[in-house]
Amino acid sequence: MDTNTQKRRDNKKSLRVKVISLGNAEVGKSCIIKRYCEKRFVSKYLATIGIDYGVTKVQVRDREMKINIFDMAGHPFFYEVRNEFYKDSQGVILVYDVGLKESFDALDSWLGEMKQEMGSHSNMETIVFVVCANKVDLTKRRVVDESEGRLWAESRGFHYFETSAQSGEGISEMFQAFFSSIADMCENGGRRPVVGPSASFTREQVDTIRRIRSSKDSWDMLGVKPGATREEVNKAYRKLAVLLHPDKCVAPGSEDAFKAVVNARTSLLKSIKFLVSLKTD
Ligand code: GTP
Ligand code: MG
Repeated sequence: MDTNTQKRRDNKKSLRVKVISLGNAEVGKSCIIKRYCEKRFVSKYLATIGIDYGVTKVQVRDREMKINIFDMAGHPFFYEVRNEFYKDSQGVILVYDVGLKESFDALDSWLGEMKQEMGSHSNMETIVFVVCANKVDLTKRRVVDESEGRLWAESRGFHYFETSAQSGEGISEMFQAFFSSIADMCENGGRRPVVGPSASFTREQVDTIRRIRSSKDSWDMLGVKPGATREEVNKAYRKLAVLLHPDKCVAPGSEDAFKAVVNARTSLLKSIKFLVSLKTD
């Protein structure tokens, strides 16, 4: 084979993709990229001003990929610079700091900003997302646990990885899965591959787990009015047990949610029994 034919073949295989990083300021977006591309960690905070751009080459199976990385500034101040760069991305790295709940809660608004900037005709299904629960090395200050982050990510069909730019934990695994999914997507005509167990649990299970986690008391958890009867409590319990029983539900956090529901039912039945005994005395 002459060198030109060889070159043409190689070019055919080479993929050029654009990825962006999103997340609040200071969550570690630039450090994650630096850890992967330069194998080092900088502990001093150097805020990204607008956008940082870099390019790296990777090999995924028999394909060479040229990855154009647009590392966005998380600070609201840079919105006007960032908004130009959302379009035509094949991959998004969404980062939060496991020690800062607000950075996790902000993931929805990052998706919102992206959708808004890409326009109504845009299709988020043709983009691979990976969520990085970053700074897992700082175990003592952790406030967002794995099941909560995984649930958020996998219920949307996104990858989820626990990472530390400081120690390197999870970084290469995350990038490998990310790039390999992008390559799969390009080979499948732009359809995002199914991620993890997302297909095996339902939106209703996910929403119920989230509602249980944020419920203010046992009545609220079972979804009954304070003062409900024994029958009403049992009926509500049965409905939740069918939905969340660990034999049937594999959504992250379902086991804890199921236990919480069992405990709530037990304590409500006790208090109902007590109130009935007061009335009959
Ligand atoms: P903006 O560019 O302002 O949006 O911030 P960023 O998300 O790019 O954050 P950056 O990567 O600059 O990191 C912010 C700070 O967190 C720096 O002081 C980093 O050293 C620190 N940091 C980043 N990742 C980690 C990590 O995994 N563990 C620890 N302990 N610190 C980290
Ligand atoms: Mg940065």
